[in-house]
Amino acid sequence: MKLLLSVLSRTHRSAVGSKHFRSLSLSPLRGHALVVGSSPELVQRLGAQVEVRTSFITEEEEGVFLQELDPGLKKKRYEFDHWDDAIHGYRETERARWGSACEEVLNRVRFAAFPQDSQLLGPVHVLDLDKTGFIKPHIDSVKFCGTTIAGLSLLSDSIMRLVKEDAPGEWLDLLLPRRSLYILRDEARFNFTHEILKEEDSEFNGLKVPRQRRISVICRNLPDSERTEPEL
Ligand code: OGA
Ligand code: MN
Repeated sequence: MKLLLSVLSRTHRSAVGSKHFRSLSLSPLRGHALVVGSSPELVQRLGAQVEVRTSFITEEEEGVFLQELDPGLKKKRYEFDHWDDAIHGYRETERARWGSACEEVLNRVRFAAFPQDSQLLGPVHVLDLDKTGFIKPHIDSVKFCGTTIAGLSLLSDSIMRLVKEDAPGEWLDLLLPRRSLYILRDEARFNFTHEILKEEDSEFNGLKVPRQRRISVICRNLPDSERTEPEL
């Protein structure tokens, strides 16, 4: 059962963009960002809405997440065979309660990514991609998820590609190193598809980025319409 898919009902689009030119420009605002894009202007403009924080968790913390998640994940099989799925070669789960070490890390994620008054989607989404797994271009459901998506990457480096939905020539590639946190906000989240590249396409600025099994731990906030306003 694809429980998260039923919650998120991702709309995936085939964003086959023509790449006219590549230009390396590390985001000038954030020392840690590893972002290249179709133009320096786009990298600059979207810079505030796209963050990659390297070494957001330690090796030890990664180990604790794995210990907590692996037994449950291993009971599931990777799903490969649904050609129309947004994700290929994956198993997933969601988790509302965590051991204290993971909870402490998740609080760091929440503090780093979301405005103080944000209401978060209760359960955290855990996506386990096989080495050959990948995520096709899609935009997370605007009905169920709000302005911000924040994800920890465990076990593998990977490339996340953002492509402007109505202008496929405009794109950004994010290098997501193992143990980093990425954050997508606002325009980057609503007007750009995002995807995780498959092993054979996994290149950053001409450099091969080998893929291994990758587990992402993803926090999202709720859309404003889902907020429960206090009664007057
Ligand atoms: C998703 C998604 C990205 C990731 O599940 O909707 O885009 O980092 N995941 O796994
Ligand atoms: Mn997504």
